[in-house]
Formats: sequence, structure tokens, C-alpha cells
Amino acid sequence: MTAVYEHDVLVIGSGAAGLTLALHLSADYRVALLSKAELNQGSTYWAQGGMAAVLHNRDTVDSHVADTLAAGAGLCHRDAVEFTVKNSRHCVEWLVSQGVDFDLRQSADQRGREFHLTREGGHSHRRIIHAADRTGRAISEVLSDRAMASDNITIYTHRTAVDLVVGDGRCQGAYILDQTTGHVELFQAKSVVLATGGASKVYLYTSNPDGASGDGIAMAWRAGCRVANLEFNQFHPTCLYHPEAKSFLVTEAIRGEGGRLLLPDGHRFMPDFDSRGELAPRDVVARAIDHEMKRLGADCLFLDISHQSKDFLRSHFPTIMERCAELGIDISQEPIPVVPAAHYTCGGILVDQHSRTDLSGLYAVGESSCTGLHGANRMASNSLLECIVYAESAANHIIENMHRIAAPSIAPAWDESQVTDSDEDVVISHNWDELRRFMWDYVGIVRTDKRLQRALHRVDLLQTEIADYYGNYKVSNDLLELRNLAMVAELMIRCAISRQESRGLHYTLDYPQSMPVARDTILQPGVSPP
Ligand code: FUM
Repeated sequence: MTAVYEHDVLVIGSGAAGLTLALHLSADYRVALLSKAELNQGSTYWAQGGMAAVLHNRDTVDSHVADTLAAGAGLCHRDAVEFTVKNSRHCVEWLVSQGVDFDLRQSADQRGREFHLTREGGHSHRRIIHAADRTGRAISEVLSDRAMASDNITIYTHRTAVDLVVGDGRCQGAYILDQTTGHVELFQAKSVVLATGGASKVYLYTSNPDGASGDGIAMAWRAGCRVANLEFNQFHPTCLYHPEAKSFLVTEAIRGEGGRLLLPDGHRFMPDFDSRGELAPRDVVARAIDHEMKRLGADCLFLDISHQSKDFLRSHFPTIMERCAELGIDISQEPIPVVPAAHYTCGGILVDQHSRTDLSGLYAVGESSCTGLHGANRMASNSLLECIVYAESAANHIIENMHRIAAPSIAPAWDESQVTDSDEDVVISHNWDELRRFMWDYVGIVRTDKRLQRALHRVDLLQTEIADYYGNYKVSNDLLELRNLAMVAELMIRCAISRQESRGLHYTLDYPQSMPVARDTILQPGVSPP
């Protein structure tokens, strides 16, 4: 018997976007909030740098908009950028009202309450509000606590979404795997929200935690929604390079506070690539590092912040200082070994300003969505802002429309009659490794037509094997993530193949120039790309 849960709103994902949305829903609604692991284990929690917002008295909305448009390489949607930036101050105020403690300027007592703002690449002002180098953690913990204390939100942990339930032309819920029991359950709701994050786990090297497997993007695609701009996967220029450090980011704010990128011989190379030096947008910096590593055959390059005092480093970058110290690196005395790694999925499920997808009743927020804000390259620290702005907008839309929506019709029970327990999990781990390696090698920072075609061929083979496995064995978290990652990999490759130019994060040796007019890459289920 399939267990059935009924709620008004089902939120799949427990990062900044999912939590914000759930908290904005009125106490009259019964909300289910699903987390793939425990709370506080997703990408939000690990975000270091901060959230961009127009707060400084010399900064302006126009300037933040202009910087975002410039970083996005002609592909941002101006209306989405303006909507997001105009709401930035209000979102900071909401987070503060929830209890998030952002760092204040040292002299704040004389000037009244004034936030400490740091800089990151592409921003022409100090604009990043933060909580030392653990901003995501500060936000995630506060919002999680609020959600746990809320009477109308029920939190379900260790749940992996399998697929969406569609009935009467609407999304009416989802089949959900309870990882603890191994059973698939049916969650029914009048509105469903995908807040499942990005898909950077598709790459061998990533700054993301394990769950970043593109689940929402794959599920929305299977349910008939369009996706856009998935060729633009952002590689963060500086992840820690150390055999014992897994997925550890070294925040861009280090460069904002004067950190310099160095070759192994100590030469500072970024000014040779861009007049903005280390604070050029991420696509430029990641490509420069990749170029120099390949030219020199180096395993890593170096980021030096040792000109700052120990006290400064301890107060601004305690997490990085501590992690590096554990690995024997004293960042006040020596440079940090760094490499680029997959960090952020700029494209995703196509949504409007209310975060509505193509499927009635289905919303997507945060990294799983494509709002038009990021264009061809997300500007640093715009993503937490996007989560908060669009989650509130979606919540308002859900509230306004709830009275019009009928209760979901009864969906079929989950059918396990044709499957057995797997006796060959090695297929999953092998395919998982193979996928991530060829995506890194063929769909990475620098691409060619030949590499993309190779990747497409490989992913087709993998998907056939995965479908066969899925059809014959009981689902597990690993199998579901692999199935979703392979789906999103295919979409990324197809987007990349159809973009015959270089723009922002998509750089191909076959078409090194940008076309005169920037266009989104939009894929529609059942329709072959042009
Ligand atoms: O470098 C960082 O702290 C990352 C910021 C971001 O991805 O927005």
C-alpha cells in the first residue's frame, strides 16, 4: 500500500528558496517541506561569500542592474534583473526580521546600524552583505529553525522525489522515496514547488554538496516543462586543491579583500588577462586559471591573501582559515592552492516572475529555475538574492490563487509489482563516475563540437542502461540521482551544441566569437532542437 500524504503546498527542497517560500505562506496552509538529507546540508548552507544588495549610500539600483547585465554577457532579461535588484533591500530586511545576523561595520555604533559590505567579481561597489565567510549557514540555520517552529509546516527529511504527479492538466503532487524505509509515498498538494537546487554534481570536480543532482530540472522536463540556458554552468575559479579537501570553496570575497592569484613561480597573472584583474567576472577568471594550468601542466594555482593581518583573516574568513589550518596551510603566511570547479547551474526550468513553470500548479525557485536574472554568467552573490526574491513572489501567487484550486484527484498508487531488489549496485556507481568524468572532460570550461558530440553519444548510452535498470529494480536515492543527473547532462549538452558562439560561461574553440544578437537556448520536451 502506498502511503498518501495530503497538503496544500508541497515544497521539494529545503535550501534558502524552499524555506523562504514555506515561511511566506500564510499559517492557514498546510505545507510539506521535503529535504533529501537532514536540514542544513544543501548548497545554501555552504554558501560563503554572501548576498548582493543595494545598501551602501553611494550604491544604486541602476549600478547593480548594470553590473548584472554586464556579467550576464547580453543574455540577462532586464525585467528579471530590475525586479530582483529593486527587491534586494526589502529581502535583507526580511532576513534580518527572521533573525539572520549579518556582519556590521566595526564603526557601526557611531554611525547607527551599518552592514559590513564586501566586494566580489563584477560588482562595481561594495555590495555583498555577509556573515563572515559562512553567510549561507547563517541564513540556513535561522530559516530552518523558523520552519521547525512553525505550526503549519511539516518537515520530512531523507526524502527523494521520484517524479511529479500530473492530473487534470495540473501538477498535483509527487511520488517520494522515503530513504529510511525504501518505500515510495504519494504526496498530494494543490501547488507544488521545486526548490531542488542545481546540477553541478554532474561534474567530476564541484564545490557543491552531494545532493546537487538536478532533480527538479529533470522532473520538470519529464513532466513537460521547458528548460533554458543549461549550457551555462558556472565554474568557480577557486576551490581548495588538496587531496583531503572535498568540494571546499575559497570564497571570492578573498579576492574582494585584495587576494591575488599567482602562478607556481609567484607571478600575478590576472592583469595579463583582464584589466579588472582578480575581480573580473567568474567566467573570465576561471578561463584564465584553466588556460594557465594547461599551459604549465600545473595541478593547481595559488591564491595569496597573506598581506592581510591574522586578526583580519580570523574575523572575515574564519571558516577558510580553520579548514586550511587543518590541512597544514597557514593562509596568513602562504598562498592557498586552488583549482576551478563546477559551482552553479545558471540555466534551469523556465519560469515567469511568479516562478510559474509551464505546468499549471508547478513552481520552481532558486537554482533549479531560470528566471532570466543570470543570463550567460551569474554575477557573484546574486543567487541567494534570487532565492529570496522569487520565493516570496511565488508564495504570494500561491496564496492569491489557492481558493481557485480544487483538491487533487486520486493518483495511481506507486507500482512495484514488476521490480526486484538490485543485486548489481556497481552499475550505478560505475555510471555515476563515468558521467561525471566525461562531463568534466568534454563539457567543461573550454568546449568543442567534437567533444560535445562525444559527450552526447556517451550520455545516450548511459541513459539507455539507466532506464533499463530503473525499469527492473526498486528505486534508491543513488539510482534516482543518477537518472536525474544523466537527464540534465543530456539537456546541458544539447543546449551547448545548439549555441554556436562563445558567450559568458559557454566557450567553444569552434566558435570563439559572440553572435551580434544574444538568444536564450530553450528546449521543449518532444520538440527537436533547431
Ligand atoms: O565565492 C563565493 O563566496 C561564492 C559566491 C557565490 O557563488 O555567489
